[in-house]
Amino acid sequence: MTDHVLVTDDGAIRTVRMNRPEKKNALTAAMYDAMAAALESAGAGSPVRCVLITGVAGTFTAGNDLQDFLAAAMGGQGLGSPVIRFLHALARCERPLVAAVEGNAVGLGTTMMLHCDYAVAAPDARFQTPFVSLGLLPEAASTLIAPALMGHRRAFELLVMGKPLNGEEAKACGLVNAVAPAGQVEAVAMEAAKRIAALPAEAVAVSRRMMKGTPDAIVARMDAEAEEFKRRLKSPEAKAAFEAFLRRKK
Ligand code: COA
Repeated sequence: MTDHVLVTDDGAIRTVRMNRPEKKNALTAAMYDAMAAALESAGAGSPVRCVLITGVAGTFTAGNDLQDFLAAAMGGQGLGSPVIRFLHALARCERPLVAAVEGNAVGLGTTMMLHCDYAVAAPDARFQTPFVSLGLLPEAASTLIAPALMGHRRAFELLVMGKPLNGEEAKACGLVNAVAPAGQVEAVAMEAAKRIAALPAEAVAVSRRMMKGTPDAIVARMDAEAEEFKRRLKSPEAKAAFEAFLRRKK
């Protein structure tokens, strides 16, 4: 159990809120486990019809906790089973996923969008994937989904060159559906979640399944990326980058 993720059900809508503002919602193992459990239990047998993923005012997430990455690097480990569990839960979730993004959406904060069915961002939201500058590689099957969504060159600029996107730029490349004023993002996303939840659930499920196809290819790419990620985490490039970030204010 962790207070860093708050899961609440209101009628047919489940809200999963990352809630670690003091660390800009950097994601820990306990947070991944809590978020995975919230998605896994929102399956066909549950009354949940739509899941809204959000953060706290002004912050979506700073991505994986870099202290945890450093510990994994020192211990020769990879992404860790809670991360993998969450990634698989994203790919296999049976209910539509809606995201509301204010502020920074770093790393998985950005790649998570590729699994959402509907996403709303503030104009000054900042989507960024600094994986390669950290000596790592993009995850969450983003190497498969992003080029298909936005074309190789724009995906390369985002995922490899680490170019940040604001809300409008994210909308222009299909990463989010809509831009809403800061402070109203969650309400607009909730409105969309309610519209989805009001549709016939089985018809939504079968349409979504047809559109997304089997999750097996996505899961296989996640696992292949994770294998490489494990190797990269151990690299001197990665270790130096994590240490530099964690040292920067001392
Ligand atoms: N892992 C661990 N701690 C993190 C973190 C992360 N990914 N992101 C932020 N934090 C911590 C900071 O160390 C700081 O902690 P402190 O107050 O104890 O020193 C606190 O959160 C606030 O962060 P700060 O950098 O002061 O906030 P900011 O508003 O100036 O910048 C970010 C926000 C997200 C742009 C910046 O924190 C950042 O670049 N974080 C790293 C993102 C990253 O590389 N993630 C990995 C993706 S693979």
